Amino acid sequence: MIEGKRTMLRALERTDIARMHQWMNDTEITTYLLVTYPISLDQETSWYERQQSDDRNKVFGIVERGTNRHIGNVGLHDIDWVARKAEAGIVIGEKDCWGTGLGTDAMQTLLSFAFGTLNLNRVYLTVFAYNERAIRSYEKCGFSREGVLRRHHYGNGAYHDAMVMGILREEHDTQMR
Ligand SMILES: CC(C)(COP(=O)(O)OP(=O)(O)OC[C@H]1O[C@@H](n2cnc3c(N)ncnc32)[C@H](O)[C@@H]1OP(=O)(O)O)[C@@H](O)C(=O)NCCC(=O)NCCS
Repeated sequence: MIEGKRTMLRALERTDIARMHQWMNDTEITTYLLVTYPISLDQETSWYERQQSDDRNKVFGIVERGTNRHIGNVGLHDIDWVARKAEAGIVIGEKDCWGTGLGTDAMQTLLSFAFGTLNLNRVYLTVFAYNERAIRSYEKCGFSREGVLRRHHYGNGAYHDAMVMGILREEHDTQMR
């Protein structure tokens, strides 16, 4: 377990697949993600199985402390062990938890693990510009806005900008002091 203040990050289990499959077919959630097509249970299972032996992608289940409820996933992708950087991703799939601070806590927990345990130097992510809640959450974690990718995403009948955000280890360490 990776311990946060209000959440804990744990390994994903096969018994989580059905729950994650539901999240990945909920368009209220996937409108914020790079998910275009409906996802079959077989596809979700294959994704889960690939995660088990993948050293470049590490995805954890977010568990709410106290209730032990699996409310979402957070992870590091494309881990580059030479440049010591990785791309972060997060989804809170249990929508009643949106806006409760749990996503920010889980991302802060992931960052402490990325810098303090994995010894990474940079964590970055891409977020759709219309996802103001996520942008605010990432800023609370210490991410800076690094640039705008113009009309990078197409969804709901329109092109949308995306934003690259990043945080360096030294910025994270300063923030923790
Ligand atoms: C993005 C996500 C991880 C954030 O986690 P969360 O627990 O909902 O976020 P928090 O409650 O910690 O923080 C949200 C902040 O955004 C603010 N916010 C909410 N809606 C907002 C809006 N429309 N505009 C601006 N700020 C907004 C909240 O007030 C809060 O800020 P505050 O603490 O200063 O008041 C979560 O909402 C989620 O998984 N959403 C669906 C999937 C997703 O968007 N994933 C990210 C893809 S890049």
